[in-house]
Amino acid sequence: MDVTPQHIRAYVDYLRDMGIYDLYQRESPGTVLTPELREIFLAAVTPKEPVAQSARAAAQLTAQRTTVPTPSRPPAPASSKPLLDQRSSPAAPPMNYFDIEPQTELPASLASPMPTPVSFDKLAPLPVDIIPPSGRAAALESLRAEIGDCTRCPLAYAGRHTIVFADGDPNAKLMFVGEGPGADEDASGLPFVGKAGQLLNNMIAAMGLQREQVYIANIVKCRPPANRVPEPLEANTCSQFLVRQIDIVRPQVIVALGSTAATYLLGVKQSLSSLRGRWHSTRGAKLVVTYHPAFLLRDPRQKGEAWKDLQMVMAELGLKQVKKQ
Ligand code: URA
Repeated sequence: MDVTPQHIRAYVDYLRDMGIYDLYQRESPGTVLTPELREIFLAAVTPKEPVAQSARAAAQLTAQRTTVPTPSRPPAPASSKPLLDQRSSPAAPPMNYFDIEPQTELPASLASPMPTPVSFDKLAPLPVDIIPPSGRAAALESLRAEIGDCTRCPLAYAGRHTIVFADGDPNAKLMFVGEGPGADEDASGLPFVGKAGQLLNNMIAAMGLQREQVYIANIVKCRPPANRVPEPLEANTCSQFLVRQIDIVRPQVIVALGSTAATYLLGVKQSLSSLRGRWHSTRGAKLVVTYHPAFLLRDPRQKGEAWKDLQMVMAELGLKQVKKQ
């Protein structure tokens, strides 16, 4: 059987469904990757040339290679050395497998099931030990160090420059969660610093707060190519770290900015309008859903609706509306 990008992708999804999250760098503790599975995986990521089966797909691959540089792949590992143990030089996926139309139907055994979102409450037990406020900055720093130069999901190979961890007060009562970094964030390493970020800053100021008093993070920490919505595989892989950030900061209120944040935090795929205007909860915090600032920039008529959501938050936190001069 010829290996196509879709086969590899389905196989990666399959391994992740089994709890194997870091295919290119290391084995997670308790991994169930048997020697036989390693062999299958190695076979799957070692494509025979040419990979593309049709001239069109080959042209697409060539076009993508010229616009989206991918790290060069190290030579195939010698006989018994498992790919998963190559810590110093993570192997990139053998090709850019985004946005390539399927050339063949996947065999049933390789097809990945449509993942359903899992709420942040179900991803991990609530922490028993609460980190005291004085230790939260250090706990976040050590989590950032644990993430390292992450290669746990395909976004690592999709043109990201910087991992955007978070910004703000490690002891914040209020946390904002967006979707994922854009170009400005990828360049600066900070969330919400572009145009949408300026609007978010204005929203925070209207609530009587400064940006430094809140905590800001995203569902994924690496920029998706062309600012597309993160794929479930990417969001699910990254969520483990946002869960821990929330558990460290322990905000009283979380604002989910837009439907991607709401979907993954709450584990539901529903319209934004059906989720707005009422309280939800996640990881011990109250959660409200509102429009993403980027959406508000496109449709400023909805700013009044977003302000209603923020007023719910202000009432909960005892904040007074800032009077316009
Ligand atoms: N949009 C987001 O969702 N997050 C950012 O950090 C920037 C823009």
